[in-house]
Amino acid sequence: MTMCNSCQQDAEEKYAELKKVLTKYHNDPESLIVALHEAQLIFGYLPRDVQIHIAEALNVPISEVYGVVTFYSLFSTVPKGRNKITVCMGTACYVKGAGDILEALKENLKIDVGETTEDGVFTLESARCVGACSLAPVVMVNGEVHSEFTAQDIPELIRGYRAAQDPAEKRSDLH
Ligand code: FES
Repeated sequence: MTMCNSCQQDAEEKYAELKKVLTKYHNDPESLIVALHEAQLIFGYLPRDVQIHIAEALNVPISEVYGVVTFYSLFSTVPKGRNKITVCMGTACYVKGAGDILEALKENLKIDVGETTEDGVFTLESARCVGACSLAPVVMVNGEVHSEFTAQDIPELIRGYRAAQDPAEKRSDLH
């Protein structure tokens, strides 16, 4: 698979950043978690290749790196979308139809919970009560609460965030 020029440049910049981090923690196995954390901030997740770089630089077996990455939920081995949609599945939201909303979102985005759309725009997640029960059912996008949400609201929500990613689409919405 060939990479577009800007993707290639982006990847090179990220690896250059990673190199700086690994120079800081060179040969220091005790810094594994902090190095992984910094690498995740750079890449957004921890691909296998990045884990190998870290293992080599810190002098830690790759199996140990992998063990730490899969043990801590704060680390992810898959890329996350630019927007995180979280459906509250707490009791108050559930009795008001959160289950149907989640199903409709899965169908609309063509992904399951925990997955990211192919274009990298959305990651779908579910949560227990997010503390806004009087506004149930609640869907959050990047932490912003959308109250009394219904499955009918989904197309507009998705369109809005997609348009924000894509200025061309936004312009065509104006005509
Ligand atoms: S149950 Fe959804 S906000 Fe409390």
